[in-house]
Amino acid sequence: MLEKIRTIESGCQDNLARVSTLEELNEFRVRVLGRKGEITQLLRGLKDLNAEERLEIGKAANELKERLEKMIAARHEEISRRQLEIKLLNERIDVTLPGLPQQRGGKHPLTLISEEIQNIFSGMGFSIAEGPEIESDYYNFEALNVSRDHPARDMQDTFYINEDILLRTHTSPVQVRTMEKMAPRIPVKIIVPGKVYRKDDDATHSPMFTQVEGLVIDKTITFGNLKGTLMLFAQKIFGEDVRVRYRPSFFPFTEPSAEMDISCVICKGAGCRVCSHTGWLEILGAGMVNPRVLQYGGYDPEAVSGFAFGMGVERIAMLKYGINDLRLFFDNDIRFLQQF
Ligand code: PHE
Repeated sequence: MLEKIRTIESGCQDNLARVSTLEELNEFRVRVLGRKGEITQLLRGLKDLNAEERLEIGKAANELKERLEKMIAARHEEISRRQLEIKLLNERIDVTLPGLPQQRGGKHPLTLISEEIQNIFSGMGFSIAEGPEIESDYYNFEALNVSRDHPARDMQDTFYINEDILLRTHTSPVQVRTMEKMAPRIPVKIIVPGKVYRKDDDATHSPMFTQVEGLVIDKTITFGNLKGTLMLFAQKIFGEDVRVRYRPSFFPFTEPSAEMDISCVICKGAGCRVCSHTGWLEILGAGMVNPRVLQYGGYDPEAVSGFAFGMGVERIAMLKYGINDLRLFFDNDIRFLQQF
């Protein structure tokens, strides 16, 4: 009998080692420990033995039963762990998990306004031109009729690379650059969006800011064309009921020159803090292209005429969106940028 128990045990150890799935393990368990299993049969046979044998064999059989139960449990653990490992290896992506939210960026408010301005002028037949931000003294000043000792240079002091190379103070140099490419062809109808630089830094001035320049040259361009074009622009960007006015001004590259104001977008002209109680807001400089600038660009001032204008994009964005601090544009604070 004891011999038989040992045979069962070694047979079980061999079989258990071969078992590789949980189903096989279960079959094995039923085969040995089940109602008709080997051990059960063995225990049933005990009643035919004498008391002494029964005690000895019964003890051995029960101990084997316990050992087998432990072995099966251990094997069960082992197999489940391996199966889980295999499953994890093959299922690295759990397609049932909710997706990660996609953080999409947005356009900067200055880009949005620049694009809006470009769209309005594109609709009027303008094309878009660009020029370098590192500019020569010639295009930034000289060819715009601002000679070396001209007092107007004070208003546009900037960062010099050397005596002749500087960061452009306005987008106006692209006027002459474009004329040089186009002359003597007409019409010229461009707008120029871009970054410009000045030696200013306070709550309302930043050392870098954004402008949009406009230039029109054709046979009989008048101040009336300038007014009509800019009126339409103001209405498109600030709404149909906006009013505009022109004040005489001075730029060496336009003659005559003017500053265009719009009726205050906050108080509609009644007077408030934003418009310093005047009811008006200055938004751009403009004028008829100075004949000397036409000549620099290669055009005959007797044959053609033109108008030009330049506006600050930050200012327009501030008025349109009600932004009260220029520096917000450059702080990169996501809470600000997300609002557009
Ligand atoms: N360049 C001028 C400025 O930056 C604006 C301007 C452009 C004025 C074109 C007249 C014509 O202040």
